[in-house]
This record gives sequence, structure tokens and C-alpha cells, in this order.
Amino acid sequence: MRITVEKLDTRTETPYNLLLLADPSKEIVDNYLRRGDAYLAKIEDEIIGVYVLLQTRPQTIEIVNIAVHEDYQGRGIGKQLVLDAIKKAKMLHAKTVEIGTGNTSIHQLALYQKCGFRITGIDQDFFIRNYDEEIYENGIQCRDMIRLRLQV
Ligand code: COA
Repeated sequence: MRITVEKLDTRTETPYNLLLLADPSKEIVDNYLRRGDAYLAKIEDEIIGVYVLLQTRPQTIEIVNIAVHEDYQGRGIGKQLVLDAIKKAKMLHAKTVEIGTGNTSIHQLALYQKCGFRITGIDQDFFIRNYDEEIYENGIQCRDMIRLRLQV
């Protein structure tokens, strides 16, 4: 499927429906949006995906809030978005790209490793500390954040 990716500009409404698929906390999403740049994936004029790039340290960019609209998932668009985010991070002179996901996010862990990311650590109890509600996915409680990294 052919997608185009463009930076979110002030004329476009923030696609919270997509951003909240990746993170249930609007407060955390807004924090990422203030600190980073959002990129929108479109098919023709329809926004079907999103990711946010955050400069976390010198030469280090983190991909946060990556999501594909439910109707378009499982067709390779998520992979295209991760690869596009890596390309953008390189253009922004990053040497390291990072991404984090829940201990329960089995498909996401597969996707990120297929795109070259390696697991570097575990932020234990991240989701307990930072979210009011308990999060369950794949029948497992999401407690820990798996941290992954790619040298580019
Ligand atoms: N079953 C098994 N593996 C799956 C899967 C499924 N239903 N869906 C995706 N995957 C894995 C596969 O490993 C696949 O690799 P392959 O192409 O070699 O088969 C890989 O993911 C890429 O799949 P793709 O079709 O590109 O993913 P997608 O378009 O569905 O996007 C997400 C992936 C995670 C962005 C999307 O599912 C999503 O928006 N989820 C909700 C938000 C979210 O969880 N964001 C990430 C927060 S860390």
C-alpha cells in the first residue's frame, strides 16, 4: 500500500484517535507532542498512521506514539512507518534511534526487531508508575517497558 508521510502542521487537527491507540494517556501524548514532532501517514487524503520523533539526548532520537488505524493494520504499513522514522532520524543526524514498548506488546516487539532494533534493557514497573489505570494486553498485565535501540 502506497503511503505518504508528512509532518503535522498547525493547519491539521491533531489525530488523537490514532495517537491514543499507542498510548492511553492523553497527558503523556500531549507531553510528547510538545517535546517532539509528529509525522502523519496518509493514503490519498486520509490520515491512517502517525509517529512522533523526540530528541532525547544529543544524536539520539526516540520513536514514540507509533500507530496505524485499525482498518489498515497488518498490511505492512507499521513496518513502513518504522523504516520511515529511522530514515528521518538519520536525516536529523541521529546516531542512535530508540523505541520502547510494553512487556505485553508481542507484535510490536516482533516488528521492531524485524526493523533491526535490539533489546537493551527493561524499565521495570514503568507502566505501574506512570499510568493510573491497569493496562492488559494479550491477557497479560503491562508493567514493564522493554527498551530497544538501533545504531544508524
Ligand atoms: N500477528 C502477528 N504479527 C503481527 C501482527 C499480527 N496480527 N500484526 C503485526 N505483526 C508483526 C509481524 O511481525 C509483522 O511482520 P511481517 O511483515 O514480517 O509479517 C510486523 O508486525 C509488521 O506488521 P505491519 O503490518 O507493518 O504492522 P501494522 O501496520 O499493523 O502496524 C502497529 C503495527 C504496532 C503500529 C499497529 O498494530 C498499531 O497501531 N497498534 C496499536 C498502537 C500500538 O500498539 N503502537 C505501538 C506502541 S509501542
